[in-house]
Amino acid sequence: MNPLPTDQLLAIDRQHVWHPYAAMPNPLPIFPVKSAQGVYIELEDGPTLVDGMSSWWTCIHGYSHPRLNQAAREQIDRMSHMMFGGLTHQPAVQLAQRLVELTPAPLQQVFFCDSGSVSVEVAMKMAIQYWYNLGQPEKHRFLTIRGGYHGDTFDAMSVCDPVNGMHHLFNRVLRQQYFADIPQIPFWGVWEDSDIASFERLLAEHHGQIAAAIFEPVVQGAGGMRFYSPDYVRRARELCDQYDVLLILDEIATGFGRTGKLFACEHADIAPDILCIGKAMSGGFMSLAATLTSPHISQIFSQGDAGVFMHGPTFMANPLACAVSLENIAILESYDWQAQIQAIETQLKTELAPCRNSPRVKDVRVLGAIGVVELFDPVDMAVVQPQLVDYGVWLRPFGKLLYTMPPYIIKPEQLSRITQAMVALTQ
Ligand SMILES: Cc1ncc(COP(=O)(O)O)c(C=O)c1O
Repeated sequence: MNPLPTDQLLAIDRQHVWHPYAAMPNPLPIFPVKSAQGVYIELEDGPTLVDGMSSWWTCIHGYSHPRLNQAAREQIDRMSHMMFGGLTHQPAVQLAQRLVELTPAPLQQVFFCDSGSVSVEVAMKMAIQYWYNLGQPEKHRFLTIRGGYHGDTFDAMSVCDPVNGMHHLFNRVLRQQYFADIPQIPFWGVWEDSDIASFERLLAEHHGQIAAAIFEPVVQGAGGMRFYSPDYVRRARELCDQYDVLLILDEIATGFGRTGKLFACEHADIAPDILCIGKAMSGGFMSLAATLTSPHISQIFSQGDAGVFMHGPTFMANPLACAVSLENIAILESYDWQAQIQAIETQLKTELAPCRNSPRVKDVRVLGAIGVVELFDPVDMAVVQPQLVDYGVWLRPFGKLLYTMPPYIIKPEQLSRITQAMVALTQ
């Protein structure tokens, strides 16, 4: 591939390339990346930026990590892809074994998926087919929490927040689900059962139609960057058991340490029936996700009409992605990541505190390696994105939220550049 001159690259991009959540042609500025190393993103003909986004929560050890690159090279020389129907391979089996060891004990079966949204679809299909196999096909709907985000495919969309999600556009085709109120008690708050009253009421009234509850434990990510009480998660687990409804936890954003625990459900000391993971699973190297479940659920699948679970993506358990993911987990285990997340949390709390003094700021919140500044008004991306690049940082605000989820390897002085930009933008 011969590189194009930057102006030509941008002209072709503008004419032909459709970017995420963007119009075509895209009226917003686009910045061409030349390369990325560690926490630095080098732009074509432009500045080098400190990365505050970890490429949408994925790249936890930084870019071009030599160990991930090496794992990929070694695997490419063996095979980069192999169909998974009727065949298996070392990277998938060893990764499944590591995931079973790392996730809560009841989770023993791993279904590999190619993206987070697909892992949510798989989890929802698993729950529906589980009840179908048990002779209760009427249990096919889902209970979720307002303010959530689970991906952009259809059933995932159906459990995204009904107001800030895409429901208004797709209302006629989305399946109707049950929505509990957004939890109000913050992560460190004192628990009161009233916070989960609407979740409990919906379960009590509709459990006969509900296959599973699905939500993001402790941190609601792209639906609003809210942190809520682990006691909510613990109580939801109890209520799901009481009303005979499965519990699906979506840890696609929170998994692999982001909140200070390896998985956010550990804050509540509970295990789901089905767990969705993705994003940081391959260290941001390539797309990989998985849906895990317990023998209690999986054994039911040999009983129904189909006799099997009806799902099987073409790129399922891609060997290259699995090999990189194994190495990504080995890197995470090779250093004291918890101390590192704790240090990032402490620094974010201190350095984002001045944002509170701004009349434009509604709230500042930090949990683990996630720092959020919520504004009263939405940011104007056409103005703010170039300003952030001028400050030398890569952040991607949305709506009223300016936030960072830096790579875990970020150094204090690099993180300070991010927090200084956030403080400056709110003044
Ligand atoms: C909690 C959660 N679930 C699901 C998804 C969808 O994942 P993907 O974009 O890989 O399809 C996301 C992506 O942001 C997410 O944050």
